[in-house]
Amino acid sequence: MSVAAIVPAAGRGERLGPGAPKALRLLGGAPLLVHAVRALSRARSVDMVVVAAPPVEVASVRALLADHELGAEVEVVAGGRTRSDSVRRALASLPPGVDIVLVHDAARPLAPEELVDSVARAVRDGADAVVPVMAVTDAIIRVDDGGRVLDPLDRSGLRVAQTPQGFRRAALEEAHRVAAANGSGSLGDDAALVSRLGIGVLTVPGSEEAFLVTRPIDLVLAEAALARRRARGVR
Ligand code: CTP
Ligand code: MG
Repeated sequence: MSVAAIVPAAGRGERLGPGAPKALRLLGGAPLLVHAVRALSRARSVDMVVVAAPPVEVASVRALLADHELGAEVEVVAGGRTRSDSVRRALASLPPGVDIVLVHDAARPLAPEELVDSVARAVRDGADAVVPVMAVTDAIIRVDDGGRVLDPLDRSGLRVAQTPQGFRRAALEEAHRVAAANGSGSLGDDAALVSRLGIGVLTVPGSEEAFLVTRPIDLVLAEAALARRRARGVR
């Protein structure tokens, strides 16, 4: 079974503040995207990688990834207006032999290659869709329009969803076809779109290193996590 990894990398990174598109911001001297693609191409399960880049950056991202000798075959396509649009464009470019598709945010640069392989393995073992999850550590509250606290939430059934998420290709394609037709593509990640079709989504343990770089503090944390990794001789 052939496995492709799609990397949505076309976002602007509004919450990170002014600067280059988030996927091109530097971590340990290399763009977030390079870290993410490196982890995917090092994973034994991944045969090819397709990056959805900001449309004006397609040529520069292609050159950037070629410079880094990442191993696996890497293609670059133009992303879209929303994350779902970007995933859909990359999905449309996959060659016929691909049976399993992983989707992994460029903004999760430190997701370990072991996590990539464990998600791919769960799909290979028969799951239609797989999402890595972590326990929720913060207290989560619901509020009304006036900011007043509503009923308390039971945290025990809540999880934080991460990427890479893995799918049987046909399930992911169907989910995106339906979402595009309803205009509901921006309501949640890929696992959420598949789940909305009534297809079961399996969870596997996530990784604390697979966190989403969202705000400026996350880049500080990512630098520290990368330094810890390098001190351990991982890379
Ligand atoms: N993404 C994408 N195409 C878009 C929007 C987002 O490919 N139109 C990608 C981002 O590049 C990122 C991933 O989806 O790798 C997760 O999105 P998010 O963390 O929200 O990134 P941004 O949308 O760039 O950040 P922000 O929401 O703060 O603007
Ligand atoms: Mg976003």
